Amino acid sequence: MDKILIKGGRPLKGDVTVSGAKNAALPILAATLLGMGTHRIANIPKLMDVATIKRLLIHLGAVITEDGPDGWEGQSGLRWTVRMSELARCDAPYELVKTMRASVLVLGPLAARFGEARVSLPGGCAIGARPINLHLMGLEKMGAEIKIEHGVVTVKAKRLKGARIYLDLASVTGTENLMMAATLADGVTVIENAAREPEVADLAQFLIRCGAQISGAGTDVITVDGVESLNGSGTHRIMPDRIEAGTYLTAAAITGGEIFVRGCNPRHLDAVLLKLREIGVEIREESDGVRATAKGRIGAVDIKTLPYPGFPTDMQAQIMALMALSDGLSVITETVFENRFTHVAELKRMGADIHVEGRNAIIKGVRRLSGAPVMASDLRASACLVLAGLAAEGETEISRVYHLDRGYEGIEQKFSNLGGEITRIRQTP
Ligand code: EPZ
Repeated sequence: MDKILIKGGRPLKGDVTVSGAKNAALPILAATLLGMGTHRIANIPKLMDVATIKRLLIHLGAVITEDGPDGWEGQSGLRWTVRMSELARCDAPYELVKTMRASVLVLGPLAARFGEARVSLPGGCAIGARPINLHLMGLEKMGAEIKIEHGVVTVKAKRLKGARIYLDLASVTGTENLMMAATLADGVTVIENAAREPEVADLAQFLIRCGAQISGAGTDVITVDGVESLNGSGTHRIMPDRIEAGTYLTAAAITGGEIFVRGCNPRHLDAVLLKLREIGVEIREESDGVRATAKGRIGAVDIKTLPYPGFPTDMQAQIMALMALSDGLSVITETVFENRFTHVAELKRMGADIHVEGRNAIIKGVRRLSGAPVMASDLRASACLVLAGLAAEGETEISRVYHLDRGYEGIEQKFSNLGGEITRIRQTP
């Protein structure tokens, strides 16, 4: 398994361009199952998870071509043409689902378009049990027959019916699965307490391009008026990745440098920008991105993760690395996932002073971190360790970096271009 070696202590300076959002690309690619015809999707990030969902879509019968720049008006990122006219099968096997829980996003589209779906239960992961009961509750309300046996969930429905669904928790993929399913249901579906994440709105935009009748995406009440069939989407550009953008803005703060994050939408990051300003980082919103400039030692601040538009849980590990070097005492409360502090033990190996009490991490800022061999445990924990390594004195070696490859496109290259001393050591399996 590859490792990443970082020699820390240098302020990062320069421009970095943010890639397409992983958490928008995955549901949008799953949504291609719904539409007969041709989908053209641009700004797809080059990530492990994207490669996994491509394998899954091809397994189900999709024809996917990776296009060059011709005919794509200078679009960036991967450019795919996806055709899903015939379905080869309607099952998502365990070997694909276990590597990427987001495979559960094919459940709604398959049930809606083909009347049947068999998806291996995703199981838990490092940050929590990750149940899908809300996804299944919604499909049941839409008239689907749900069966779970041998670790596989089977969903059957001649045709889903419109329903009023209340989500106990504003689940992001739960909202996305049910919104996709509702596009082809017979009648109107109202999803209440829906997730308001920008990725939900980007998915809705894609579905509307395919002919879906959706209103309210991005708010907590989404209304879908089911139609008989959906077409190809034409060209859709994946939104910029707000978590990747937040990670690079935090890198400027933690290394005492200045970074311009090109292509990010500051409106998707209001809670993060507010907190960075609160601790003394200079944040300037410019025409095509956001600039972060460190202005001396950062102050302490309390943070509570919440569903959007609250502070994103996917930025919690990264901001904790920053708080480890702050001038004071900070409390970070993780309200979304039950086990999202696995990065704490690794930060403590680097000299951080952090104490965990249940859902709260109490961080006493120290003057400096020291490089050390550390282990990544999940996607955002690995980003946290990269940030800590870039700020620490000496060398940090991060193992299990396959976690990082799931959600950060070309991270070593991007940080090297900003002046970071970061290299990947390829390890033969
Ligand atoms: C999405 O996961 C993201 N993944 C996660 O990003 C992100 O951390 C999370 O939303 C929260 O913002 C994708 O979009 C592919 P949830 P998701 O359903 O949809 C509970 C990353 O780092 N819940 O909003 O799986 C659940 O246990 C990843 O990019 C149920 O109880 O998260 C959690 O406590 C990590 N029953 C809470 O809701 C359900 O049926 C929020 O989970 C569904 C969820």
